[in-house]
Order: sequence, then C-alpha cells, then structure tokens
Amino acid sequence: MNLAVIGHPIAHSLSPQLHEQWLRASGLFGCYEAIDATPDELPALFAAMREGGWDGFNVTIPYKEVVVRYLDDLDEAAKHAGAVNTVYKRDGRLIGTNTDGAGLVQALMPYTDFTGRVLIVGAGGAARGIVQALPTRDVTIVNRTMERAKALADTFGVVYKTFDDLNLSQYDVIIQTTSVGMDERSTPLSLEGLRQNTVVCDIIYRPLVTPMLQEAKRRGAKIVTGVAMFVGQGALSFEKWTGVKPDETVGKKLIEGLLGE
Ligand code: ATR
Repeated sequence: MNLAVIGHPIAHSLSPQLHEQWLRASGLFGCYEAIDATPDELPALFAAMREGGWDGFNVTIPYKEVVVRYLDDLDEAAKHAGAVNTVYKRDGRLIGTNTDGAGLVQALMPYTDFTGRVLIVGAGGAARGIVQALPTRDVTIVNRTMERAKALADTFGVVYKTFDDLNLSQYDVIIQTTSVGMDERSTPLSLEGLRQNTVVCDIIYRPLVTPMLQEAKRRGAKIVTGVAMFVGQGALSFEKWTGVKPDETVGKKLIEGLLGE
C-alpha cells in the first residue's frame, strides 16, 4: 500500500504515524507519506495515482476543494460536504470521498445515540461536513455570522439561532467546529445553562483539551476531544483503501500520546 496525505503546510500532520501503525498492525506492507505539495504539483500526483504509483491519498488544507478537478467521481459524502479528504481507486477510477463527518459521528456513537437535540457551533466547511453526516435533523446551527448559519441550516433543513437566543439546556450534544480555541485561551460560546451529562465535543485537537472543553468538564459534561474525529476520519479512510477496519482505540492512544509530548 502506497498512501500519502497531500497538503500545504503538512509538517505537523499526525496522519503518517496513525496510518503506519495501522498498516503494521494489519500485517500490510506499505508506507504513508506526508507530501507538502504546491498547486502545480497536484496534476502529477494524481496522474501517478492513476498509473498505480499510489493506492490512496488523504487531502487536507488548502486542497480539499480544488482536488475535485483531478478526480473521476465524488461519492455522496463528498458532494454534500463540498470537499474531499480522501481519494481511493475503484476499477481504475479515482473517487473522492469525505470521511470527516462520518468519522466524527462514528466516534460519538459510544457517547450518544443521537435521539436528542444537537447544537453545531460554526457554519464553515467543517460544520457542513458534519451536518451532512449526522443521523438526525434535530439540529441547530449557531454562528458568529448569521447569514452563514442560515445558509447552512437552509441547505440541510435544520434551524439556526444567534448566540443570544441560545438556551444550552435544550441540547444533548454540542459540537464545536470553529477555529476558536486553538490559541489555548478563547472559547466560542458561554456554557451558561449547560446540563450535566451533555456530550460536548470540540474538533480542535491542538490543544488536546480546549478552553471550552475544560469549562464543559467543570460543569459535569462528557467531553470528547478532537482526537476522536481525527482518528475516526482516518479509520474510515484506511478502510476504503485497504478493506480492513483498523483499531480506533489503539489509534487514539497513539495520537493522544504524541499530542501530550
Ligand atoms: P472550516 O473549513 O475550518 O470550517 P471556514 O469555512 O473558514 O473554515 O469556517 C470557519 C468557522 O469558524 C466559521 O463558522 C467562522 O465564523 P464566521 O462564519 O462568522 O466567520 C468561525 N470563526 C472563525 N473565527 C472566529 C472567531 N474569532 N469568532 C467566532 N467564530 C469564528
């Protein structure tokens, strides 16, 4: 298996360690590289995949949208998300999919059955990928820019609210999808009124426990770090390429260890 993640910058990607551990554990020969590519290198990379030089790619920032032009088809998840994070081959054709949303949903399954109400914080590309994958439409979007919240809510037939109108006690699951919290100080919303046992998830994994998650924990919530989504999306990509379901618990331990260093 020749696998790689393509992005720019890519130096801090943890995907090589995650996938190489899974390759070894599955008894598969192969490697997983991190390729720091410029936009004009993309055509050659996808041509090489067509010719058998690569079996699969992950695609990350800033190429999740532009890679579509090098592919033969997109599956439903990629179409709905409007972005590709995984490329695999079927019958010689290059297919784009998006495992981010489904990876997160899968990672949240041990914590919730999604019968309650879900709050999504943010309305960007990440939020879109997650909303399309949720197994419920009892979803509320809240976002700094209201027009974007409305646009996303309208696309998926869900509702949107302003931060001022929110009553957090109404939600069973809260998923934070913005970049607020990466600076280790900021939090995108006040957790006033949060019920105990609410599942609060942040897709940021640097820092591992964001200020919002720290506050949620103090208030008795069940917290899920961004490692869940990272490992969840990786596991679904790995399965697409190899047909093998990797061990997510082992993957999670590895990544938490690397982030804790
Ligand atoms: P991504 O693909 O990572 O979701 P994006 O499409 O640029 O990136 O979306 C970023 C999200 O983070 C948006 O919901 C954005 O809110 P706006 O729509 O109001 O811009 C949110 N976001 C980014 N910085 C923010 C900040 N400082 N405060 C609140 N929300 C922020």
